[in-house]
Amino acid sequence: MVEKFSHDIAIVGAGAAGLRAAIAAATFSDKLSIGLLSKVYPMRSHTVSAEGGTAAVLKDYDSTDLHALDTIKGSDYLADQDAVELFVREAPSEVIQLEHWGCPWSREEDGKLAARAFGGMSVKRTLFAADKTGFHLLHTLLQHSLKYPGIVRYDEWFVLSLAVEDGAVRGLVALDLRTSELAFVSASAVIVATGGAGRMYQFTTNGVIKTGDGMAISYRAGVPLKDMEFIQFHPTALPGTGILITEASRGEGGYLKNKDGERFLSRYTPEKMELGPRDILSRALVQEIREGRGFEGPFGAYLLLDLRHLGEKVIDSKLPFVRELALNYAKIDPVKEPIPVRPAQHYTMGGIHTDVNGRTPLPGLYSCGEAACVTINGANRLGSNSLSECLVFGRRAGQDAASFALSRRERDHNPGGDRSVSSVQYVSLAEEKMNRLLKKEGGQERLAEMREGLQSLMETKVGIFREEKGLREALREIRELKGRLPSAKVDDRGRTFNMEMVHAFELDFMLDVAESVAYSALMRQESRGAHFRTDFPKRDDKSLEGPDKGQEVPPGTDTRELLPGVRSKVPSEDVRLGCTQLRE
Ligand code: FUM
Repeated sequence: MVEKFSHDIAIVGAGAAGLRAAIAAATFSDKLSIGLLSKVYPMRSHTVSAEGGTAAVLKDYDSTDLHALDTIKGSDYLADQDAVELFVREAPSEVIQLEHWGCPWSREEDGKLAARAFGGMSVKRTLFAADKTGFHLLHTLLQHSLKYPGIVRYDEWFVLSLAVEDGAVRGLVALDLRTSELAFVSASAVIVATGGAGRMYQFTTNGVIKTGDGMAISYRAGVPLKDMEFIQFHPTALPGTGILITEASRGEGGYLKNKDGERFLSRYTPEKMELGPRDILSRALVQEIREGRGFEGPFGAYLLLDLRHLGEKVIDSKLPFVRELALNYAKIDPVKEPIPVRPAQHYTMGGIHTDVNGRTPLPGLYSCGEAACVTINGANRLGSNSLSECLVFGRRAGQDAASFALSRRERDHNPGGDRSVSSVQYVSLAEEKMNRLLKKEGGQERLAEMREGLQSLMETKVGIFREEKGLREALREIRELKGRLPSAKVDDRGRTFNMEMVHAFELDFMLDVAESVAYSALMRQESRGAHFRTDFPKRDDKSLEGPDKGQEVPPGTDTRELLPGVRSKVPSEDVRLGCTQLRE
């Protein structure tokens, strides 16, 4: 007997984007029933680990035009400029909304919200709550969501697939992790807000839950993924664990140094130095290491982030979490010693193809947050734009899904819409897969080894530097892993929180996402933003342009400094590591 639940809207993921969508839908109409499913308790969503802040124009010296220009430049001109314009216009009211809901933003002496510098932002625009912005933002959203009786939470439920019938989404199949019981959740609209897929990589700042689940289930339901080759590496993570050392530490004035004590970024981004875009900085760190100017440690090569000159008072008031993390995980007190850092995977720029209302091409299916690709980030996201993105597009997806679900409810006269959908069939498919894993005897393949195999091949062949041979090998190896997965063995046959079984499903999801990343990276024969091909080291605007787009500019022009709409037809010669040097 399959357990069934019915809601007007089912939201998958209860991080910032999912919670913001739930609140928006519940505010839109108190008649709506909203199921909010999350693999973890909401406060364990990856939003909690966002540190540095959220970007929005709230200062007199700033303007939305400038925020838009920074975002578009940062994206290496791949962002959808209309979407960016809408995003920068709506971000400020979201921050104010959070303020009204009680978010404890850090403040200036006069009581106004404090703003700090962040990479690629031309003015201090990043609002923050010390260096625990994600925690405070998520907590505020979760607390506020409790006010709406229409939001029904399913904490620790893992969504395995979407149900599609008559060309529209009708619900989903979910696994209750406490019991391993499967259930069918019927819904007129489903919003996927499951975050990115960073766990495909060996070194990542992402929590263990970020395994691309939402991207994979949408892709399997026939929805396109977009911009998948663009994987962001954050320049400063702790070696070994990959724990993020926030960009805010550089925003507050920290220096990156090599073995010779040199602020090496003067060779790569002399004007912006530590506040250059992440793609350029990550490549610069790797290059320093390759040229022998890194340190060797138990977890591989690293460089140094020096905060000592900021002093204890600034570190404790603005970067307390950085001090805590460095002390706990590297046994380093940043007041007294520099912190060892290395680049680590941080963000998936690509994702489920949506418009600015979170709609995907599949009627009833929406997406927002890192799982989605609107596209405001293009080839490289600017730090601190992602929390704002979760808020702006979470709200828009929630509102649009609410209106869609209400119109379906009127048509069908019941929540969850048309019940003709064959829930039993969808659940049986998931059950078969589960039983295959749980009842399998003598399987040869070890899941952990396969997962590590994927992570290591993504790191070495689909990482910061890429080339055709490695990408082809990566694709072949990913496909081999896919072939081997059905022989994987799960030792834990229990039904209570069987995380080994969950990891098997997650690996299955990650393999699909990884294949799309490697394939897209192979197809893009140019270097742009976070996608750097050593065999195609230059940006190729020519092949992207239509007849009336772009205006010819002389060789050597720093194309990131051009105004939107003006694109180089002649790739810059002033290139080091494919990163155009930034000039004011
Ligand atoms: O470094 C950071 O605090 C990260 C921020 C972001 O990715 O937006």
